[in-house]
Formats: sequence, structure tokens, C-alpha cells
Amino acid sequence: MTFGIRKAVFPIAGLGSRFLPATKASAKEMLPVVDKPLIQYAVEEAYEAGIRHMIFVTGRTKRSVEDHFDTAYELENELEQAGKTELLKIARGISPDDMVCSYVRQSRALGLGHAVLCAEPLVGHETFAVLLADDLMVGQPSITAQMVRQFEQLQSSVLAVQDVPLEHTNRYGIVSGACVSSSLTSLTGIVEKPLPANAPGTLAVAGRYILTAGIFEELKNTPKGAGGEIQLTDAIAQLLTKEQVFAFRYQGTRYDCGSKLGFLQATVDLGERHPQVGAEFSAWLSARC
Ligand code: G1P
Repeated sequence: MTFGIRKAVFPIAGLGSRFLPATKASAKEMLPVVDKPLIQYAVEEAYEAGIRHMIFVTGRTKRSVEDHFDTAYELENELEQAGKTELLKIARGISPDDMVCSYVRQSRALGLGHAVLCAEPLVGHETFAVLLADDLMVGQPSITAQMVRQFEQLQSSVLAVQDVPLEHTNRYGIVSGACVSSSLTSLTGIVEKPLPANAPGTLAVAGRYILTAGIFEELKNTPKGAGGEIQLTDAIAQLLTKEQVFAFRYQGTRYDCGSKLGFLQATVDLGERHPQVGAEFSAWLSARC
């Protein structure tokens, strides 16, 4: 029996082409929603779930992510000298002392499955979490914490899922399976981005996964799939033939921050809840309608 998950993988080598021109020379994961970059929301979510080893699968133009989680001596020194203790706390809090960050380069954009496989030497033979930072997930407890709890009971891979409109199935991995409870489905199939006419249902994978180490063997044997990329979804479909995999309907909200619309929705919702500016922002929004 394994309790808890110690490692999280963040595939961040993607080009972010849905968000051009902002992402031409900058990492999409560094786009801020209110005052925090997307990647920090994802790392905080994993940390809240008890995970302390963060593994970033990175690429060109992503240096700012490494800098973000590194110590900023000059900044900290300036803030300390100026007695700005609150700001100093914010700067230092990005990387708590008990958090470890590792980086591995995905030198070619061969897809999400390939990115996860790049993390194998750092993950080793243990169950781990995968978080896609452009899916900003808000839940209490965090979505990853909810999934870790499921894993502790099931001892099997767990995928976060939500119902989507039929016309959107071609944006997601779509699962099919047998209902175990109102929130759990035991998977019998999963297919990447099917057209609505071919979709086995409308239960779609959101960007959170708990995967057993068995996924690495499957990834090594996964040929290029949808979009000419090595798909994590296809490897999960293979894993299913050997191990049980569950789909879990999480409690919370997902914002697709890889898209401009989702990013704007997250900005408005989180802006309204922000402790510093939320009340004023809400009042401003109401006055406009
Ligand atoms: C990826 C996965 C897809 C999943 C989605 C969630 O797609 O391949 O199965 O449903 O993330 O956001 P992407 O959005 O990277 O194209």
C-alpha cells in the first residue's frame, strides 16, 4: 500500500500557440491571473496535497519558470533593507524550504505523453501526479488533494473528469466506463479528442492525473496518435488493459487558461475573490452592468 504522493510532474514545454502573441517569447505558464502566474497556482495546489517534489518538464523560452521558483537574492535584499516584510514573505513563500524543484528538458515537442516520459528518471518507480498548469483548478480542498485521497483508497491511477457539452469532445480526452459511485467511474476506454459523432460520452479529462509508474512502460510503446503527437491518453488506454484506472468527478471549477476566454473568466472570478482588490473590483464590475 502506498500512502500519499510525493512527486508532481508539470509538463511546461508546450508552445502556447492558442495565446499568441503573448506567448511568442514568454512562457504561457507565467501569464498571471490577477497577481500570480499560472504555474504557481498549480504548484501550490500540489503542495496543498502534501507533494513536496515538483518536477518541471521544460523547454526553450521557459527559463522564467526556473527563475520564479529560485531565490531572488537582490529582490529579497532590497525588500529586507526597505523593511517591506509583507512583500518579502510573498517573495520567499513561492518556494517553501521543504519544497524541492527539479527540471528536465523536453528537447522536442513530441506531445504530452512524451513530456511525461521525460520525467521518468526523476519520478522512478512510484505513483505520481501530473498537473497541466493551463488548467487552473479551484477547489476546497484542492483538486489534487481530492485526487490523492481517492488514490489512497483505490491504489490505482485516477483521472480528474468533468462533463462537457457534446460539441466540445474534440478538445479533450474522453472516457467511458462503469459507474462505481456518483463521483467514480471504473474506466473501460479513453480516446483523445474524438469528434462528437465518435465520442463514447461526454466525460472529459481535466488536466490532473494520478498515475502509477506502469504508465512509463506504456509510454515507451505508444506510437504517435492524434495531432502526430505521443498522447498520454493513448498510453492510459494501454495501461487500462493491465491495471484498473478510475475517473473521478472532482468538486470545484476548472478554467481553461490556455484559451483567451477561459483566462478572462479566471481573471474575473479570482479578481472578485482577491483579498486586496476583490471588493473594489466587484463593485466596479457591478457598476458597469
Ligand atoms: C490535454 C490532454 C487531454 C485533456 C486536456 C485537459 O490536451 O491531451 O486529454 O483532456 O489536456 O486540459 P491539451 O489541452 O493539452 O490539448
